[in-house]
Amino acid sequence: MVSGRYHVTTFGCQMNAHDSGRIEGMLESLGYAAAPNRDEADLILFNTCSIREAADSRFVAHLMEARAVKRRRPETIIGVGGCWAQSMKDEIFAEYPFVDVAFGPGQAARLAEFLASDSIGARGFFEFESFTADLPMRREQGHHAWVQISVGCNCRCSYCIVPSTRGREVSRPLGDLTREVRALAASGVVEVTLLGQNVNAWGRDLRPERSSFSALLAALDGIEGIERIRYTSPHPKDMREDVIDAHATLESVCEHIHLPLQSGSSRILKRMRRTYDRARYMDRVAMIRERVPDCAITTDIIVGFPGETEDDFAETLAVVEEVGFDGAFTFVFSPRRGTEAAAMEEEFVDGDVARERMERLVEAVRRRAGERAERFLGRELEVMIEGSSRDDPSQLRGRTRHNRNVYFEGMGRAGELAPVLITGTTSQSLTGEMALVAAAQRLSR
Ligand code: 5AD
Ligand code: SF4
Repeated sequence: MVSGRYHVTTFGCQMNAHDSGRIEGMLESLGYAAAPNRDEADLILFNTCSIREAADSRFVAHLMEARAVKRRRPETIIGVGGCWAQSMKDEIFAEYPFVDVAFGPGQAARLAEFLASDSIGARGFFEFESFTADLPMRREQGHHAWVQISVGCNCRCSYCIVPSTRGREVSRPLGDLTREVRALAASGVVEVTLLGQNVNAWGRDLRPERSSFSALLAALDGIEGIERIRYTSPHPKDMREDVIDAHATLESVCEHIHLPLQSGSSRILKRMRRTYDRARYMDRVAMIRERVPDCAITTDIIVGFPGETEDDFAETLAVVEEVGFDGAFTFVFSPRRGTEAAAMEEEFVDGDVARERMERLVEAVRRRAGERAERFLGRELEVMIEGSSRDDPSQLRGRTRHNRNVYFEGMGRAGELAPVLITGTTSQSLTGEMALVAAAQRLSR
């Protein structure tokens, strides 16, 4: 398990207090324990508010205290979430370079991914939806649980800090995991997300008997009550046939694969030590499309890796155009202390160049994701209800098996599955009507 101690400071409204509660619960489920004060915390979090300027400056004073802790103990992670983070998203890393992760209001789940997966090596800002649309319901998500299946990573990606901070890969034994998921199912959990730095390498280090990620998926799929299984993050090099087939054959394994690309240029991939090239990545995508035709594919991309030329970047854009990702997390390269890439200083890409590339990348990702979403129009999709939309409480919010958010009219409780007729799309979310509601409306017309 991830281990360490956390400290959360909450500013602002009740919503933030509630969110902090969720963040704390999530951290404890990841193996973190509460620290009595910032000085003793490995993870210092702020859940912020930006209603008034006074709140801002009060918060910044706290943030500076955290910086002092980080100066004494550089491995401390500082995270800033909530409304101030949202409003500062364009400046936060430039103005407060000691901040490791920032996230918008209600994005505790993203924080979990960040902490438990690859992302720990990144400075991430997580914003998946426009500010108002994504404020999630504040109900506890008792139907969903994160399950850490491994820690550490045996890869040596040159930009990534994980291998040095988390060490070699260690898988949790199959029996432990099935027991844990059975207990979760018995307590009402219907959806699990398996977490690890390189989830699809799971099992290779287990002794006396090695196992494989696809075997784990099959074992968990057999657990009564678990409707949906997701995982993050896999490595393309380990995305073998058996794992892809699991998406086609195992009922609870969702039609969504997050396949981190990082760069579309084979030259840069080599410098990143990713161990696959563009052709091999495209080959994985082709296999996914062939075996699981409707599968959503999302990715992570780094722009401005040291030495990235305009031609290299053009290759990344070409892959984005060709694959048509359903979504992507995009990162500007940030040198992490002690990594191989951090030493490539003479080749660092100019900040303005990287930002300009990022803009083009985000445009391409959004446009292609929007186009991909159109395939859902007019279809009836299985949506897991997550709560009500904050924007419009008469609407429910849920998620498809493809991991798309859906806002729709209907009735039901968090954790229930509903058939929803999709009537509208954006690059980020879908809108629709619960199939029964749609049928009733047709009848009354
Ligand atoms: N700079 C920028 N992005 C990074 N990531 C990891 N390390 C770095 C870094 N040093 C990104 C990768 C990874 C994601 C979670 O974070 O894209 O897949
Ligand atoms: Fe880091 Fe690469 Fe391992 Fe991911 S696979 S945790 S990016 S070293």
